[in-house]
Amino acid sequence: MEYRDFDELDWNPSALGFGAMRLPYNDDDRSDIKEDEAIEMIRYAIDNGVNYIDTAWPYHDEESEELVGKALKDGYREKVKIATKLPSWDIEEADDPDKFLNKQLDRLDTDKIDFYLLHALSRKHWKNYQSLEIDIFEWLKEKREEGKIDYLGFSFHDHLDIFKEIVDTYDWDFCQIQYNYLDQEFQAGKEGLKYANSKGLGVVIMEPLRGGKLAKEPPESIKKIWDEAEKDREPVEWALKWLWNQPEVSLVLSGMSTLEQVKENVEYASESGVGELSKKELDIVDRVAAKYRDISPVECTGCNYCVPCPNDVAIPRNFRIYNQAEIYDEYEKYKESWDNMKDEVKASNCVRCGQCEEACPQNLDIMDLLEDVVNYFED
Ligand SMILES: NC(=O)c1ccc[n+]([C@@H]2O[C@H](COP(=O)([O-])OP(=O)(O)OC[C@H]3O[C@@H](n4cnc5c(N)ncnc54)[C@H](OP(=O)(O)O)[C@@H]3O)[C@@H](O)[C@H]2O)c1
Ligand code: SF4
Ligand code: SF4
Repeated sequence: MEYRDFDELDWNPSALGFGAMRLPYNDDDRSDIKEDEAIEMIRYAIDNGVNYIDTAWPYHDEESEELVGKALKDGYREKVKIATKLPSWDIEEADDPDKFLNKQLDRLDTDKIDFYLLHALSRKHWKNYQSLEIDIFEWLKEKREEGKIDYLGFSFHDHLDIFKEIVDTYDWDFCQIQYNYLDQEFQAGKEGLKYANSKGLGVVIMEPLRGGKLAKEPPESIKKIWDEAEKDREPVEWALKWLWNQPEVSLVLSGMSTLEQVKENVEYASESGVGELSKKELDIVDRVAAKYRDISPVECTGCNYCVPCPNDVAIPRNFRIYNQAEIYDEYEKYKESWDNMKDEVKASNCVRCGQCEEACPQNLDIMDLLEDVVNYFED
């Protein structure tokens, strides 16, 4: 395993961090985590040098933190830093932060959370914190003095201007941003990465494979571009190496859903480093990104923040098959998947209540896009 700098902190994170948002689960029930398999994956990662694990209150329908707590028994807790997050959208009353933090310590079965984040900050959640009866920064300071949390940060999903405002408002230790070769100019993006780094924050990367999209077997039009590179690499290796190549990146979180993926990513991390990609290779990555943008109708990352929908629409699933049909130019194949979906989970079941759009970190016009899906498969 390679270790990197965490900016001003006197601690070196492993190049790869474990994101506990994509653990294996049974059937369609994200809360029903395959416990033995997930624990084996987390322990394999730690045994092979991973020293940072990221979870959050809502992951796996609120089951992720407890699973992480179980995985870190038998001496594993001492080998790894835990990151978890205060669910910003649920903080209304002055005593809410304490309620969540105490429950999280309990679920994780630990006395201290090493890296604590305000989850998914956006203009809306940022304003919400400012309107609370308590001063959230005073509260964070107090919890730090009590020894319940150590380093303070935030994760982010909104535009660059608000990102900079948040960075400048408080003496944060770190932040967590969505960043990958497709999102260089999206949300915080490359400019945000450099900005945070210049202000002394460690920067943790989430969605490095854009939720798995960049790990899929590429279509012919993308393969042709990769084939121009002298070195043959898997798509996952390209995407991760592109991030590790940048000195401002402190560590890359990957959500992994099989032990095989953990083994592969640990292997890639052990061969990672800053400045390893040549100018020609970086140009190839940029051309692949441009091509992907051309051929994807919906920029959904499959993060599941928008579900459950009160009307049972399986939003990310509808977008996934629409994207795949277009990216791979295989309408008939994915029309069959659409026809096989239960009627109640189809995009056509949307009643335009708007709830999902409030939750989407990508700011997608979900309701209109769902209509596009219906038109695409039904007309
Ligand atoms: N704070 C926030 O607002 C926020 C938001 C998003 C994520 N996060 C955190 O950041 C972490 C990373 O984000 P992410 O989970 O979206 O990461 P990601 O790496 O972009 O996507 C994860 C998906 O990539 C695929 N994958 C990973 N390694 C692979 C490999 N070697 N071969 C083939 N496929 C591979 C898997 O897809 P399949 O499962 O389809 O195989 C996996 O579920 C999350 O787990 C979570 O801890 C935080
Ligand atoms: S707008 Fe449609 S898809 Fe979104 S939550 Fe409401 S019913 Fe569900
Ligand atoms: S529509 Fe938005 S919230 Fe829902 S899975 Fe896609 S990116 Fe996530």
